[in-house]
Amino acid sequence: MEKIVILTGAGISAESGLSTFRDEGGLWAQHRIEDVATPEGFARDPALVQGFYNARRVKAAKAQPNAAHEALARLQRDWSGEVVIVTQNVDSLHEDGGADSVIHMHGALSGALCAACGHRWTSPPEMAVGERCPACAAPSARPDVVWFGEMPYHMNTIYDHLSEASIFAAIGTSGQVYPAAAFVHEASLSGARTVELNLDPSTGASSFDQVILGPATETVPRWVDGLLAQR
Ligand code: OAD
Repeated sequence: MEKIVILTGAGISAESGLSTFRDEGGLWAQHRIEDVATPEGFARDPALVQGFYNARRVKAAKAQPNAAHEALARLQRDWSGEVVIVTQNVDSLHEDGGADSVIHMHGALSGALCAACGHRWTSPPEMAVGERCPACAAPSARPDVVWFGEMPYHMNTIYDHLSEASIFAAIGTSGQVYPAAAFVHEASLSGARTVELNLDPSTGASSFDQVILGPATETVPRWVDGLLAQR
């Protein structure tokens, strides 16, 4: 049974209207990473950080999954082996498009985390500064997203999947953020065929066996059709 492991990034949600980070006009052109995506930034100015994620939560709630998200859900349903989707995205468009058990390595906008005791719960649409944790009552609610300097989630599970992958695909990610950027090497070492699907070649494009360029809503359904036709 061939296992397919898929890593997705902001590019897969771009055609659903959600901003990427490093493209022209992307989120990191408008906000400083150290201000809105680090624990130090949150400690310095929680209102700025909560405002940034509240705005992203509002936009993400209005976004619809696109043909690329739906094609990956179809692959999960119709492939004879296992299809594991690992995403760096904090939106829920894979799930909204019908995917199952998506691994959110950078957390999710739908989650709240207590910075004091580590308790997790569902985030309200707008998280207020100093919102209290329902478990320990500390005024320490934060978005349950992974910031720079923090360990991404589910890493052991992800490395286990990569070690068993027959096919590894990276979709819509610039390959500039580790550890995700190194997954292609892990998968190659395990003997997987590797493919990148992206608008432009990523930083690590030369590490892949195959690179397919174009918008995800076109390339991903075509790639999925090809895989399912081969079976
Ligand atoms: P980036 O913004 O770094 O890269 C987005 C990639 O998507 C680029 O390579 C684009 O060429 C590509 N792209 C844009 N539109 C596309 C489309 N329509 N179809 C296909 N590809 C398209 O976003 P990520 O790689 O996801 O982390 O960024 C990785 C991490 O960096 C994020 O999870 C976030 C960020 O800082 C944290 O905040 C911890």
